[in-house]
Amino acid sequence: MMISLYRLCFLVTLLLSTLSENVLASVLAIDYGADWIKASLMKPGVPFDVLLNKDSKRKIQSTVGWKRNDRLFGSDAAAVAGRFPQDSFSSLKFLQAAQYNSPAVSFYKSISTADLVETDRGTVALRRSDGTEWSVEELLAMQLSYVKQLAEDFSGEKVYDVVVTVPPYYTMFERDAIADAIEIAGLRTLALVNDGTAVAVNYAMTRTFPQPEYHVIYDAGASSIRATVVGFSNVAGDPKSKSLTKDSIQIMVEGVGFDRAVGGTELDRRLREIMINDFNRRYKKDIRQDKRGMAKLWKEAGRVKTILSANSDATASVESLAWDIDYRSKITRADFEIACKDLKGEFARPIFDALASAGMTLDSISSVILTGGASRTPMIQAAVKAAVGESKIALNVNADEAAVLGAALHGASLSKQFKTKDIRVTDINPYDIQTSYTADNKKVPNAKPRTINTLIFPAGTKTGTKKTLTLKRTDDFPLKLAYKSSPAPGLPSELLVAKIGGVAEAIKNLTELGATDPVVKATLRYSDSGFASVADAVAYGEIKDDSLTGKLKGLFSGKSDEVVEGEAAEGDQAPFAAPSPSASAAATEQKREDTIPLDVQVDFPSLQPLSVAAKRQSRARLSTIDNEEAGKRRREEARNSLEAYIYKLRDLLDDDNQENPFNKCSREAERKRIAESLKETSAWVSDHGDDADTNQLLAKRSVLEQLERPIFHRYEEIKEFPHALNMSQLMNWQTRIFMKEAKDGLIAAEEGGPPSKWTASEIEGLQKALSDHEQWLDEWVEKQKKVQMDEDPVILTSEMRARAKTLDNALQKLRNKKAPKVPKKTTSTSSSASADATGTEQAESTGTESSRSSASTPSSSSRSTHEKHEEL
Ligand SMILES: *[C@@H]1O[C@H](CO)[C@@H](O)[C@H](O)[C@H]1NC(C)=O
Ligand SMILES: *[C@@H]1O[C@H](CO)[C@@H](O)[C@H](O)[C@H]1NC(C)=O
Repeated sequence: MMISLYRLCFLVTLLLSTLSENVLASVLAIDYGADWIKASLMKPGVPFDVLLNKDSKRKIQSTVGWKRNDRLFGSDAAAVAGRFPQDSFSSLKFLQAAQYNSPAVSFYKSISTADLVETDRGTVALRRSDGTEWSVEELLAMQLSYVKQLAEDFSGEKVYDVVVTVPPYYTMFERDAIADAIEIAGLRTLALVNDGTAVAVNYAMTRTFPQPEYHVIYDAGASSIRATVVGFSNVAGDPKSKSLTKDSIQIMVEGVGFDRAVGGTELDRRLREIMINDFNRRYKKDIRQDKRGMAKLWKEAGRVKTILSANSDATASVESLAWDIDYRSKITRADFEIACKDLKGEFARPIFDALASAGMTLDSISSVILTGGASRTPMIQAAVKAAVGESKIALNVNADEAAVLGAALHGASLSKQFKTKDIRVTDINPYDIQTSYTADNKKVPNAKPRTINTLIFPAGTKTGTKKTLTLKRTDDFPLKLAYKSSPAPGLPSELLVAKIGGVAEAIKNLTELGATDPVVKATLRYSDSGFASVADAVAYGEIKDDSLTGKLKGLFSGKSDEVVEGEAAEGDQAPFAAPSPSASAAATEQKREDTIPLDVQVDFPSLQPLSVAAKRQSRARLSTIDNEEAGKRRREEARNSLEAYIYKLRDLLDDDNQENPFNKCSREAERKRIAESLKETSAWVSDHGDDADTNQLLAKRSVLEQLERPIFHRYEEIKEFPHALNMSQLMNWQTRIFMKEAKDGLIAAEEGGPPSKWTASEIEGLQKALSDHEQWLDEWVEKQKKVQMDEDPVILTSEMRARAKTLDNALQKLRNKKAPKVPKKTTSTSSSASADATGTEQAESTGTESSRSSASTPSSSSRSTHEKHEEL
């Protein structure tokens, strides 16, 4: 009893502490695009907006790179591509989970000058010019970690939880790659949210939907074009409901369409092809052989594309592109559109694919909301307008920021600590996912085992779905999950194999307990972030139980969480049935159900996610760089601080004004020594400043400081002295008043009055403390008077304050003493006691310059004024 109570208290404390920790936590949202990163931080009490980078820009280029040994991010990293084409890494989104020999990698090679190598997982790493290799996950993690740092600098606290946007077509392999990078970056995945869905959340934030509405979110990004059909509806709150107490908005994704081969980057590539061909033709050279030139042209293609969005022609111009040739060429929008004419029919196609997958037509759509940077490209906009009609086009969300803001709002609602509008999101699975296992055919001896494939999560399945598969098995068996067909060129279809173990023993035990026909039930999940998994597996049996408890139990067993129950015992295709009627209360009335958990071990036969060890190793690699950079920053700070200190001292020495505190508080010889040391240090900095380490820099500063410190100290003490003296005198004065009162009380008691609160020896003790303090103060103030401003003080104000405090403590001890039991008429004694009180209230002096003279005024501590002290 005691113990359980204790444990309960402990639990409550734990809960409280984790709660209060959560309350303070913030949520970071990152929209990671092939060209740009946008981020937003949700933090209680902080205005909700897009996070700015160090240059106060609202978006960060998705590039990481190195200039020799200095790591760079964003536009700094992109800017070095022309000089260090093998050390600047952009467009990494194309390489998430990409297999080394896949079309995705071939495409990447066509746009990038980076040097690609194969990892032992068959994915891609990038090799820097210094030979070091960095996996795509590591490079992504660096960028996420950079954003994390921005958020932490902005909010002044650690950030852990993150929501990252992904395209709706991302497979589990690609989602794994993002989740692994998040982990390597030291962040925690709160959710991966499809970018169209995030835009929908942002759209719903400021709107209500009295009637359900359907919209298409058309997102033209750098890497692809995708369309999402979304239903919006108001849901009235129900105070009795556990989960839906207030009004909310339901966002339901109905269908998605996408094209992985069309996007802003492909347009850039085609534009660069125009320039490459033009250059090669004009100069009879092959610019493709020149990495620097290719990198410069890539940057120029992006610039020209932007100009062509608003103008009918543009001039491409790159100084010293290659072979010392300054390249200049006029490019018209017409040339560009001709080069892209085969894509014209593709731009709007995702909209119709999305509608088809939703089983809807354009008629039921209120608007097509354009978003994503490439939606501004005239040829794309024109194609969409032509396809859906101008009247359906809506430009009512911020094309750049809607996704990241929506992701942040989504994260806020998931973390449940923000008072945001309640927006519930249900997304869908874009691909057919099937499960397969071999049939347990015991009827035919030596029969070849048949493989049974079941479409467990067909395309369109809602996120957060669980399905239970019921199988008649007597032995361990593998349960496979796979995409029905390869989800993208170069990506495998097999997802995972879950080995279900311990079956034989569990079934045997259930049978022994009296179960008839025990089965294996495996629960499969499609998560909110788009991951399919085998959540768990049990052996299950119904056991006849005629006892009274059994019957009672049956009455109360209100079944069951499982969404769908499938019967897949025999037969090739095993369709999922509606919830089995055997689950009804009536049927279980005389039966007891028993489950025994089974062992589930998951393997990844195709593309493995990063192992825990690999992630830990990557984390360590990144930390090493972070630490090195922090060391460099500390060194820079030490150097800057030394240089600033040198300037400051030089200014002080150069100041001829004799009234200046520095000159007044220092002697000629001291200034001379500082000047010598300063000269020496300045010379040292110009010789060794670049290669000296942090400690050397700090030591140099410390040498100078030790010369200046006594001077500064004198100045501080002169400033402080009048205040400290005031305090000391105040204590003397207060103690004297008290002494007078106390002594009077003692005399009155001796003459038969009420008993004194204090004994004679207590009063004597305080008297001694007072006299000692007065004497000390007089003596030392007298000595201090003789000290010149450029000499060290003989008493320190800190000591004065300490002694005054000691006296005050002695006084307060008596003051706070409890009165003796006998009640006394206080008024008469106390008023008489204070009649002759002495004290000083004269301010000594103010200001530095006059402090010496104040100290030399007739010694104050023994001086008594004729102040009357009226008590109350
Ligand atoms: C089966 O029963 C035996 C004997 O009661 C027990 O030791 C064992 O743990 C049981 N196994 C399972 C998987 O429940
Ligand atoms: C000394 O103390 C008195 C009373 O607290 C105050 O009014 C006065 O300004 C003080 N003088 C200095 C120099 O601190």
